[in-house]
Amino acid sequence: MNDESVVPSGTAQVVEREPRQGVMKNEVILKAVDIHHVYVVGREELHVLRGANLEVRSGEILAITGASGTGKSTLLHLLGLLDTPKSGQILFHGKDLCQLRDEERSLIRNRQFGFVFQFYHLLPELTAVENAMLPAMIGVGSGEWSAKKGRARDRARDLLRRVGLSGRESHRPSQLSGGERQRVAVARALMNEPSVVLCDEPTGNLDARTSRGIYELIEELNRTMGVTFVVVTHEADLARRANRIVRIVDGAIVDANVQDMSE
Ligand SMILES: Nc1ncnc2c1ncn2[C@@H]1O[C@H](COP(=O)(O)OP(=O)(O)O)[C@@H](O)[C@H]1O
Ligand SMILES: [Mg+2]
Repeated sequence: MNDESVVPSGTAQVVEREPRQGVMKNEVILKAVDIHHVYVVGREELHVLRGANLEVRSGEILAITGASGTGKSTLLHLLGLLDTPKSGQILFHGKDLCQLRDEERSLIRNRQFGFVFQFYHLLPELTAVENAMLPAMIGVGSGEWSAKKGRARDRARDLLRRVGLSGRESHRPSQLSGGERQRVAVARALMNEPSVVLCDEPTGNLDARTSRGIYELIEELNRTMGVTFVVVTHEADLARRANRIVRIVDGAIVDANVQDMSE
């Protein structure tokens, strides 16, 4: 890795982006404060996060790196309300989401966060457009859905076009390559116009060339749609493309640059 690859830590180089309406560029939208998380397996306690602090700013691409098993996925799940920390706060626009009731958490998760996982998590019996539409269906009654469905389908088609899958709308996941499946997952993540898209090793299952296509897509969506991305990755190539890189070390977050990514 040469010197040009170094991304200065702590400085979000965010320019010419248009975040969600009503949100200032560079505003802290999501913040983890003194997060501790423990998994209990039998009699063993695994203290994964030990006072993790992180700020996510609107319009940025933030990479979270760290060795395998350091708690990257755990942190991402906590940020996206897929799990609740043992202690600490997850603040969204300054409001502590850990204090909310389950229904409110589900609503915020569905409306404000998009998710992209390593293994896509698409439903095999649904077409690409139906998979992309799914987040719009969640929590909607059948009457409301019949009124909304046409618009949701149009948006899903538009998103599939944006991720480079025009003409593949009616294909099922088994008829798509790994990279194409991940593109469907990205379209699905964007369906509800989320504030933040959380990606957990989005290229972990893809070859180098296909991975590059996914990185480029993330950059393009960030640039053209102002989407904020938090990307967990142990791949230096992907981290290098972020505006900012942090690393999990001993359960805490430290600023990092790509030269730290030796493993
Ligand atoms: N549901 C769980 N129950 C028990 N241990 C878990 C669970 N999820 C993760 N772990 C453990 O917590 C640690 C951190 O996991 P994870 O967040 O998945 O790390 P990473 O994504 O950085 O590889 C690992 O040691 C893992 O085995
Ligand atoms: Mg992981």
